[in-house]
Amino acid sequence: MADLSGGREVLAVAVAPPGEAPPAFQYSPDSVAGADGEIDPTEITFRGCFCRTSSCVVDVCSCLSHGESYNSLCLRPTDKEEEYTRPVFECNTMCQCSESCQNRVVQRGLQFRLEVFKTEKKGWGLRTLEFIAKGRFVCEYAGEVLGFNEARRRIQAQTSKDSNYIIVVREHLHNGQIMETFVDPTYIGNVGRFLNHSCEPNLFMVPVRVDSMVPKLALFAATDISAGQELSYDYSGRCHNLPMTNREEKSLQEDKRLRKPCYCGSRICASFLPWDGSLFSTLDTSSGSSP
Ligand SMILES: C[S@@+](CC[C@H](N)C(=O)[O-])C[C@H]1O[C@@H](n2cnc3c(N)ncnc32)[C@H](O)[C@@H]1O
Ligand SMILES: [Zn+2]
Ligand SMILES: [Zn+2]
Ligand SMILES: [Zn+2]
Repeated sequence: MADLSGGREVLAVAVAPPGEAPPAFQYSPDSVAGADGEIDPTEITFRGCFCRTSSCVVDVCSCLSHGESYNSLCLRPTDKEEEYTRPVFECNTMCQCSESCQNRVVQRGLQFRLEVFKTEKKGWGLRTLEFIAKGRFVCEYAGEVLGFNEARRRIQAQTSKDSNYIIVVREHLHNGQIMETFVDPTYIGNVGRFLNHSCEPNLFMVPVRVDSMVPKLALFAATDISAGQELSYDYSGRCHNLPMTNREEKSLQEDKRLRKPCYCGSRICASFLPWDGSLFSTLDTSSGSSP
């Protein structure tokens, strides 16, 4: 079987139909420093925990000071509202615990057999070849990690016919700061670059930190997903199908002329792909993510 990752992932990535392949790019399972050299996602800056147990537990482990993130490989919601707002810090290279610690999930890589396939109207897409339970980690959105100026330069160089792969993730950190992460898998990336947008997605994105504050953009199953289903997330970052704010509604109306039609096929389709106008002007302070 063809493996789009060329043996770089822990599981082969299938391609359909046989004999066809998406346009070439350099496959990397993990994010890499961008051509601008501003941010290096492979740097190790966190100190590890001192747990000498095989698996870390809350109240003892310094990596779990925000509470336990996972339960049997599934991301745990923060509260009854099923929100996943807790910051996720996995055990890292410097930790004393074992490789099988329950606080190591995203760093283990692909856990399900996935297939890059040709869709009818959206170019290439990604689907699962096996059942995925709600809360499980599916794949990372890996690519070049860029600084703001290089991300803006690349976005401005795109035409409306180009596929946009650049994602912007804004996080409101606990110290009140806003952290922005720009990932571009156009030239170097992993399977995540084939995820299409849906207005009713089956995945949601969570920034997960392992060795440093540069997050891995991890996609988790929002619902049980059966074999053969296309995988998708909401490019706007409204990860749990929350209604739009008035401000978002207004910017949707303003930007419609510039935007691409959405072919997600959902009954609640917003008709257009989300758009991040802030990269074209000054930075704003909204939360969420959008490629
Ligand atoms: C990150 S790429 C996804 C993979 C892409 N389909 C490909 O062939 O490589 C994002 C681009 O895919 C297309 N796309 C993604 N979701 C779409 C949707 N719901 N409707 C129409 N086009 C979509 C748009 O061209 C968008 O700029
Ligand atoms: Zn651990
Ligand atoms: Zn620990
Ligand atoms: Zn849609």
